[in-house]
Amino acid sequence: MDDDASALVAVVGIGADGWDGLTSASREALTGAAVVVGGPRQLELLPPEVTAERVAWPSPLRPAVPGLIAAHAGRRIAVLASGDPMFHGIGRTLTEVLGADRLRVLPHPSSVSYACARLGWAVEDTDVVSLVGRPLPALAGALHDGRRVLVLSRDADTPAAVAGLLREQGYGASRLRVLEQLGSARERIVDGTAGDWPHPPGDPLNVVAVECAAEPATPRLGLVPGLPDTAYEHDGQLTKRHVRAATLAALAPAPGELLWDVGGGSGSIAVEWMRAHRACRAVTVERDPVRAERITRNAASLGVPALRVVTGAAPAALDGLPVPDAVFVGGGLTAPGLLEACWAALRPGGRLVANTVTLESEALLARWYARHGGELVRLAVAHAAPVGGFTGWRQAMPVTQWSAVKPAGAQP
Ligand SMILES: C[S@@+](CC[C@H](N)C(=O)[O-])C[C@H]1O[C@@H](n2cnc3c(N)ncnc32)[C@H](O)[C@@H]1O
Repeated sequence: MDDDASALVAVVGIGADGWDGLTSASREALTGAAVVVGGPRQLELLPPEVTAERVAWPSPLRPAVPGLIAAHAGRRIAVLASGDPMFHGIGRTLTEVLGADRLRVLPHPSSVSYACARLGWAVEDTDVVSLVGRPLPALAGALHDGRRVLVLSRDADTPAAVAGLLREQGYGASRLRVLEQLGSARERIVDGTAGDWPHPPGDPLNVVAVECAAEPATPRLGLVPGLPDTAYEHDGQLTKRHVRAATLAALAPAPGELLWDVGGGSGSIAVEWMRAHRACRAVTVERDPVRAERITRNAASLGVPALRVVTGAAPAALDGLPVPDAVFVGGGLTAPGLLEACWAALRPGGRLVANTVTLESEALLARWYARHGGELVRLAVAHAAPVGGFTGWRQAMPVTQWSAVKPAGAQP
């Protein structure tokens, strides 16, 4: 290294307005660099006064980062990023690979800041969904009547795909505006309604502003667990709404945590775990392949396509899965070694919740309750139903639920 500054990689945010839109600090970082790394489109935005060697990112990018940085060790390196490098950008990868203390990040307004400025939307009241590297159904979880959502597009086809998803989800009445080339001389806004989206694909650099408008018959899906049973495609193997709400309360999802949903059925527990926060992750294990496919469909239609579905019978199918923060057992309790395997896999401090409607499994849960403590509850839900000309209670099968926190140093 020739001096301390060259030990830092400068990460320079650049917009569609290119060099003209950069601050003097960003310009100096680029003119002082020996190597500038960036996407081909970004490198083209640099004027001749940037004399550095220009290196285009290879694809896929992430595995190439350590080698590329190492290849230029000892030289002043600048990396070009689109907009704000720390917002859905290369800055995240670079901090993960190199560490934050090896970077000097120089932000530029993000596409979201530009879009909100053009639309007059408060950034903090706008939900953002990135479809860059994420499947389209991820947008479904952000749809709420009256809510404003900005979608970070993958390419020129994203706006029409967003319109299609909105129609499918009963949000065809939503107004869409596509904001292209924000901040550049070629900036353009196209306007329309999801129901009859009239525009051909435009510029690949765009964000889609959605003003969510549900049609009258669209089911209302709230934020907290306990979605209506009708929100799921199922064959009867579904933890019903009231018990599901109580189960998610016991599982207590927190951002970033991983759930194992063992005996996934229709996937409702894992789906509602993941809907609790965008950083929540879940794996569901289901032995029946028809149900496993149904879980995938439910996860997509309810906005959590990242739910991992493992088709196989527990406990064998649990082998090699990442350590969970919580485990739910909704099926297979009597499979030999299943509860032992779940308890052993759980991280200390993690929660285990198991539900059953059979006496055999209830006896098992009573033994585990006697050994490990926790809470053993019986959830008996009854629904009012017509009885002749009157109304009476129709009792659902009572569900026995054991929940426990695994203490530090616990043995299987
Ligand atoms: C009552 S359902 C679970 C309902 C689920 N929580 C929901 O809301 O959709 C039980 C499921 O466990 C599955 N199952 C039973 N034993 C299993 C095992 N050993 N491994 C994996 N899945 C199992 C069954 O196929 C069934 O789909």
